[in-house]
Amino acid sequence: MLDYLIQPGGSLNGRLRVPGDKSISHRAVIVGALAEGTSRVSGLLEGEDVLATVAAFRAMGVEMGGPQDGRLSIEGVGLHGLQRPRVPLDLGNSGTAMRLLAGVLAAQPFDSTLTGDASLRQRPMRRVADPLNAMGASITTADNGCPPLSIQGGRRLQGIDYAMPVASAQVKSAILLAAMYASGTTRVSEPVPTRDHTERMLRAFGYEIETRGSKVRLRGGERLHACEVAVPGDLSSAAFFLVGATIARDAEVLIEGVGVNPTRTGVLELLERMGARLDLTPRGEAGGEPVADIRARSSRLHGVVIGGDEVSRAIDEFPVLFIAAACAQGETVLHGAGELRVKESDRIAVMARGLAQLGIDAQERPDGIIIRGGRLGGGAVDSFGDHRVAMAFAMAGLAAVDPVRVRDCKNVDTSFPGFVALAAQAGLGIKALEGLA
Ligand code: S3P
Repeated sequence: MLDYLIQPGGSLNGRLRVPGDKSISHRAVIVGALAEGTSRVSGLLEGEDVLATVAAFRAMGVEMGGPQDGRLSIEGVGLHGLQRPRVPLDLGNSGTAMRLLAGVLAAQPFDSTLTGDASLRQRPMRRVADPLNAMGASITTADNGCPPLSIQGGRRLQGIDYAMPVASAQVKSAILLAAMYASGTTRVSEPVPTRDHTERMLRAFGYEIETRGSKVRLRGGERLHACEVAVPGDLSSAAFFLVGATIARDAEVLIEGVGVNPTRTGVLELLERMGARLDLTPRGEAGGEPVADIRARSSRLHGVVIGGDEVSRAIDEFPVLFIAAACAQGETVLHGAGELRVKESDRIAVMARGLAQLGIDAQERPDGIIIRGGRLGGGAVDSFGDHRVAMAFAMAGLAAVDPVRVRDCKNVDTSFPGFVALAAQAGLGIKALEGLA
């Protein structure tokens, strides 16, 4: 067990860099492995989730040098060069790895099995198995629709027209990856825009892919050509420091080199709507993705109503946005966010429980939450092994009047290795307590 202990009275100041973007890092590894030639990635997130993707491709015969200091070189084997893995592929805590790999493996000549940790084995997989099976794949889930996934190889895939019932970049990406192997054209339409990193990455590797409004179109049978990818800092990781600075006293942080893809910037717009003092300075592009430096300062926040397509554009930032809401004046109402219940934990239930433990009035709704801002006390909260819940409550310690203890924080390493050191360096009074039950 690893807990965090946060003392009251901390602040956040200075220039910071956060680790590389998790979504883009996964895609760089996957697409690089399937390309022809040597790809070089810099800024790669060396978190456990991405390392699980690296290990999975190594198990399928892809040679890679690194990662070291964020650099990874990938000897791509081409779309048809993967080898049968000898063991089930264990993707740890990573839903992205499992769903995107399902798309790739559905099209291989060999059988494979995908599994993961206790959290991942509770996450819904029919959302990828169904469309891939409709393309001609053979994927079975456990009876409850969750992992393990058993994928039978040697199937011929056909392109499909698919209207996605849930807004999910992982589902969209799984279909697009499989579609490169399918005969004919695949068209995917999404109910609201989701992150488009797969589309950008495929384009960077020379694959023709057309995006028009909510529709993406790709023809099977082209090739991927190795390239260099510079991964920007992860806005989802930066969000903890942005919220932390707005709720702390006398705080000002400048986070450098953060990815600001417009399908991801919902968190910035929501914080600004809540009254946060943020400034963005564009810094060009990295790896086909827009990048900026973002400044955040102590702010007076107020509650807002959140719904519609704002939800998918800030989907991973809600745990820490709920902390902002707890520190805001008035009520914050979130609706249309049922997807939060099937993330690394049930983020609506887990956050409502932790906020209540810190003395905040937080009412769960089936598809959202109502949070009344107030005075954050201290106490112990459980992250339920969810990395983003753990980091969100760590930041709550900036506004709490007494110490906050956050339990079960080990999984922060899935997305943000070095979080404690960076937060402490910036002025949060945080300590990791190891080995306590
Ligand atoms: C991701 C998509 C989102 C997000 C996840 C990363 C991706 O999941 O929550 O952390 O890299 O494609 P969904 O596609 O399930 O919404």
